[in-house]
Amino acid sequence: MTNIILCGGSGTRLWPISRTLMPKQFVKLFSDKSLFQLTVQRNKSFCDKQFIVSNSEQYFLALDQLEELEQENNNYLLEPIGRNTAPAIALACFALEYDELVLVTPSDHLIKNYKEYEKVVHQAKALAAKDSLVTFGITPTFAETGFGYIEANGLDVKAFHEKPDEETANKYLTAGNYYWNSGMFCFKAGVFLEELKKYSPIIYETSLNAFKNAKCDSMIRIKHEDMEKIPEDSIDYAVMEKSSKVKVIPSDIEWSDLGSFDSLYEELPKDENANTVNENHISCDSKNNLIYGNERKIATIDVNDLIVVDTGDALLISKKGSSQKVKTVVNELKKLD
Ligand code: GDD
Ligand code: MG
Repeated sequence: MTNIILCGGSGTRLWPISRTLMPKQFVKLFSDKSLFQLTVQRNKSFCDKQFIVSNSEQYFLALDQLEELEQENNNYLLEPIGRNTAPAIALACFALEYDELVLVTPSDHLIKNYKEYEKVVHQAKALAAKDSLVTFGITPTFAETGFGYIEANGLDVKAFHEKPDEETANKYLTAGNYYWNSGMFCFKAGVFLEELKKYSPIIYETSLNAFKNAKCDSMIRIKHEDMEKIPEDSIDYAVMEKSSKVKVIPSDIEWSDLGSFDSLYEELPKDENANTVNENHISCDSKNNLIYGNERKIATIDVNDLIVVDTGDALLISKKGSSQKVKTVVNELKKLD
């Protein structure tokens, strides 16, 4: 099985830790390994090939980090510009045989229950071998509007709903047969391409054209003028919401997409005052704070439920619960560029 590892995103909601030239998937947030490295390691036992699909700017980051893992024989497909996940996955699938099973994984998620993960990937593989497009469902714990929801009937998918509004997300939360889509997929390369051709023919044709014109030496490099012609769309809207071949495996893998500082706080180790463990933090009657930064001392007095992120050249201070608004800050910063 081939592991298609998507790492073209820039992870703006974790600014200032995550930057255009050092997106969150390459940052060593939890240990001496980045989320990207953890992804590669996690999937190595069931995937004999890695296909790294990234922006050309991130190629050297991926290369360096794979060298650190002493991981050889990697395949790269480099996009000059991002066109979202449907084209990224399609371009990689064009390079594979029809029957090749693929496990598509983002490179910026955390999975803590490896044993369970291994079990569900094996289940997914068996379903994908029978021509299904397999998704991994996570039981929702709150009404997140930034995820896709899978409406399930056993392993069958009644419908796939990408990014609902809040009212709808609340209904899904209480219904009991809806799962979060974890953003990982398992299918045969050829089956995915057939479904893409059926439901999003323009993405299929323009991606095929870009693949045929690509420079192929030690890696596949898509030309800028061809990539520009591909419409931007995610796999979720382009295929998953429309295909009748989608199946879901409910999975209790202790998954987090680390999409915000609030979700990062949940995952980091904490001290007796529920502050994140940080040897540079001097806490005086402060509780429940995320304090990130290793360049200077950070002192807090009588403050609770804050997010403080210090990277030396930028400092973020936010209330807990508001960290999704980092996106607004990043948009402001872009205007200054
Ligand atoms: N190579 C490449 N090129 N990778 C990309 C591109 C691109 O143009 N765009 C996004 N990615 C990568 C991101 O780095 C990330 O690892 C993954 O593809 C998913 O993209 P996101 O942009 O993070 O998607 P999302 O969070 O809005 O939604 C997806 O993930 C949710 C779970 O985290 C959807 O699949 C949702 O349904 C799902 O719930
Ligand atoms: Mg995401």
